[in-house]
Amino acid sequence: MKRLEDELLRYAESDMYPFHMPGHKRRGNALFKTDITEIDGFDNLHDPHSLLLREMQAAARFYGTKETSILVNGSTCGILAAISAAVRKGGRILIPRSAHISVYHAAYLRDLTLSYIGEEPGKEEPDAVVLTSPSYEGCVSDIRSWAEYTKKRGIPLIVDEAHGAHFSRHPYFPESAISLGADLVIQSTHKTLPAMTQTALLHNVTGRVPSERVRKFLKIYESSSPSYVLMSSVTAAWHALMDNGSAYFDEYAAYLRDLRSGLAGLSNLRLAGGAEAVLAEGELPPYPCGTRLDPGKILIMGSGSLDGCGLGALLRTKYHIEPEMMTKDSVLLMTSAADTEEGFRRLLSALFEIDADEASGSGPAPYPASSEKIPVPETAMRLADAYDAETVDVPLTGAEGMVSADFVIVYPPDVPLIIPGEVYTAELARRIGTLPGVQGVSPAGTVRCVNSLVNPI
Ligand SMILES: Cc1ncc(COP(=O)(O)O)c(C=O)c1O
Repeated sequence: MKRLEDELLRYAESDMYPFHMPGHKRRGNALFKTDITEIDGFDNLHDPHSLLLREMQAAARFYGTKETSILVNGSTCGILAAISAAVRKGGRILIPRSAHISVYHAAYLRDLTLSYIGEEPGKEEPDAVVLTSPSYEGCVSDIRSWAEYTKKRGIPLIVDEAHGAHFSRHPYFPESAISLGADLVIQSTHKTLPAMTQTALLHNVTGRVPSERVRKFLKIYESSSPSYVLMSSVTAAWHALMDNGSAYFDEYAAYLRDLRSGLAGLSNLRLAGGAEAVLAEGELPPYPCGTRLDPGKILIMGSGSLDGCGLGALLRTKYHIEPEMMTKDSVLLMTSAADTEEGFRRLLSALFEIDADEASGSGPAPYPASSEKIPVPETAMRLADAYDAETVDVPLTGAEGMVSADFVIVYPPDVPLIIPGEVYTAELARRIGTLPGVQGVSPAGTVRCVNSLVNPI
């Protein structure tokens, strides 16, 4: 079978002159040489018949799906397309409150009503369930039970597996939702596989949601000029997995086992999930998920005298180790099969050095110290109406009783504290004011609310 990356390199070396897009004309550094457009022989992602079709068909066989599509606008466009394809306009979806912002954006675009897992169930049944598994921190949900739930109701199960593109590829890692009964699964290849930023996959596993509907919405949400450089980084990652099988991850799994068992010996800092990557009762995050953790996510809880932000700052400045995320409670370090033995060694020794410097006996901080569950505010307006409404900027401190016209989110991991149509409580406004990394609050401390003089509520 011809491989996209080989064909691109062959073409880059040929004497073909590019009287076509893109404007850099393949002049520039090495990356530019394979940045082409839909020229003869290279197929079209939105209407694949040859090279790309065969790549995606090979991937579908490899993953055991009806159809697998390469995405160049991230899992974001896969989530938008999956929800739009699976649920009628104006329908209802059941989601965790901690869902990624793209799930809420899909709800806005398709005027959907949201129900939340763990909240009082309403009388109306959902038209689909959309789960996040694993979460940003790596917590894995019980997909099999959810698949039973959705099968019983005859509705689709969509799984945002953005952080689990490496799942099922080696026995050390959890199983993918693809083999656990999900209908549509979205994976960010760029997060945990060696592929470029923005690349992702949309797996139509069962065909319960017709592939034509999925493709229709991908055409809407995805660029009409998908990058061949990005696409070939996905196909190259696929071929590495297909050619090597689980052996591709053997070394990575061995490094991780050593790292986790080493870090389990920390005295003041603490590795969430310990050596075995299983969360203890007191470690469970404030959103619905199981106890299993992706062992590739290294979540280090701060100590009594050094919080997550302080730890992250030390790792960056003193040890030149760049974490993925820092919160008041913890630091998250993301790993992949492309990590080196030296990288793991540096991380282990830096954390032990910091751990030894901590006042002995300060002990690890309790898990969700600052991220304890934030109650879902009351809804006064439909999301889509409130997001389109005339707005007024209100100081956060005086927002109690106002209807939000915007998303206020914690970034990372891009999950909302309040969404358009929900009503501020004094407590929520206070909490938002104390959290780091919040988007949706202006530098002047104001939030965007529905102008009730113009929009009768
Ligand atoms: C849980 C989750 N879902 C979806 C996404 C969106 O993925 P992408 O950045 O590939 O669009 C993210 C991004 O961080 C995420 O954390």
